[in-house]
Amino acid sequence: MANVVVVGSQWGDEGKGKIVDWLSERADVVVRFQGGHNAGHTLVVDGKVYKLSLLPSGIVREGKLSVIGNGVVFDPHAFVAEAEKLRAQGVSVTPDRLKIAENTALILSLHRELDGFREDAASNSGTKIGTTRRGIGPAYEDKVGRRAIRVMDLADLDTLPQKVDRLLTHHNALRRGLGHAEVKHAAIMQELTSVADAILPYMDRVWKILDDKRRAGERILFEGAQGTLLDIDHGTYPFVTSSNTVAGQAAPGSGMGPDAIGYVLGITKAYTTRVGEGPFPTEQNNEIGEFLGTKGREFGVVTGRKRRCGWFDAVLVRQAVAVNGISGIALTKLDVLDGLDEIKVCTGYRLDGQEIDYLPASQGAQARVEPIYETLEGWQGTTAGARSWNDLPAQAVKYVRHIEELIGAPVALLSTSPERDDTILVTDPFQD
Ligand code: GDP
Ligand code: IMO
Ligand code: MG
Repeated sequence: MANVVVVGSQWGDEGKGKIVDWLSERADVVVRFQGGHNAGHTLVVDGKVYKLSLLPSGIVREGKLSVIGNGVVFDPHAFVAEAEKLRAQGVSVTPDRLKIAENTALILSLHRELDGFREDAASNSGTKIGTTRRGIGPAYEDKVGRRAIRVMDLADLDTLPQKVDRLLTHHNALRRGLGHAEVKHAAIMQELTSVADAILPYMDRVWKILDDKRRAGERILFEGAQGTLLDIDHGTYPFVTSSNTVAGQAAPGSGMGPDAIGYVLGITKAYTTRVGEGPFPTEQNNEIGEFLGTKGREFGVVTGRKRRCGWFDAVLVRQAVAVNGISGIALTKLDVLDGLDEIKVCTGYRLDGQEIDYLPASQGAQARVEPIYETLEGWQGTTAGARSWNDLPAQAVKYVRHIEELIGAPVALLSTSPERDDTILVTDPFQD
């Protein structure tokens, strides 16, 4: 059975939510395996808009199991708020439809505060990352530092005080150093005990559930968050998020072996966007960037920030194809390019007088690369809302074919609007 991993192949916001929602009709289980509520995934079903940050996009469909894997950092307050919001939209969020891995690390208010303190301090020194301020980085630091409080700890009130002690020894030293008040032990205990009842009914042995499902021949869809260029190892470090966002993470982030992954679908926007600080070689700080941002409605789901916009960068996506093992891509937002006279595509970089065909690893070199562009003819017809390949203007088909060639991966799906059904299937990722 070909289980499918969906990953972002750029800097996030490629349209993963829409595609996961569309694909989930063919799946039995949808699993988040990294990141947290820094993600903002938008689904539009018959005009109704759902915005998901922490819950898997499969939650919107009846009859699917949603799973939050151990690779996620889990904010219990954000969970309660998102579940409430979804219930108000008629989505049922109940323990029989959603499982949270018992070994998932928690994001607490002190993580959120630390994220904010650091970003505020960095604003003056020019080292700001532009995080979502959700506490993602600090929570992963505590996980790797072996002092995190995990979901299962909420069920063991005898040993919880010791774990809180260990956590606070670390955090209070940091807070003192940054000139902020210490956190009291009782406050964290209160925070944890107040959310326990809302979380524990969802807690389960996720690795076992997934193993059973797999043996039963059920189809598993892994929903990545962020994008390859935000990966802690393969991205534009340090302007990245704090998890591995690449497809391989689906295995350890959920408790399955790597052979569980059959197909890697890279979600790819027909141009490029980025939120937050960091290098962006094809950024268009001009009327083209404004055009893409306005027409593509490029505003962050989580923070409302305006996304930076630019031309398609084939160098980055070609690299994403390699580091994820992308089998095929879902090309999204082609309709945003409708009506442009000409469209540029970056095919290589110039670095210190030399031409290169990859993104260099160092921060300094990433800031210095200059894009080498090819100019393609645009199209005057419309792709918006197209549901068949034959409805696409000839020049739009040429653009798609050219991208396939440049990145070395085929288009499996093509998305032509935010609506679930405005999607063209070329190759079914679940097909064996
Ligand atoms: P994600 O983080 O990768 O799930 O993407 P976001 O939801 O943050 O951002 C993608 C935005 O583009 C959302 O507002 C989607 O509704 C929208 N979108 C997705 N696919 C298409 C498409 O093919 N065309 C257009 N115009 N919008 C799309
Ligand atoms: P989805 O899943 C776009 C960016 C932030 C910042 C950097 C680090 O919707 O594609 P963090 O809060 O993770 O420590 O911030 O990563 N970032 C995203 N950008 N889409 C996302 O998620 C993102 N999640 C984090 O803007 O630059
Ligand atoms: Mg998003």
